[in-house]
Amino acid sequence: MTTVHVTTREGAEQAITPGGAGSLMEAIRGAGIDELMAICGGCCSCATCHVYVDAAWWDRLPPMSEDENDLLDSSMHRTDTSRLSCQIALTDDLDGLRATIAPED
Ligand code: FES
Repeated sequence: MTTVHVTTREGAEQAITPGGAGSLMEAIRGAGIDELMAICGGCCSCATCHVYVDAAWWDRLPPMSEDENDLLDSSMHRTDTSRLSCQIALTDDLDGLRATIAPED
């Protein structure tokens, strides 16, 4: 079972244990954290699922696609640990992952 720790924009941390496979975005939305809008539903075309991943986890994430990189470039809030949460499939390897929801653009 994979548990991820998500910090909201207000600084509240929540442990989420999603049932079944899915993306980090789906786990966050499924937990009722609706400040992560995810307007495109995970098609990698909106960047409203932007999160900052804890640096300790960075090297364990799936590689970033060119499309994801381009979308993140459009954000005023991109940092070195920015990812689109819909592009992170939650595997057992990511048990304990920590991420913070990025400010809204
Ligand atoms: S939900 Fe739209 S890019 Fe992730």
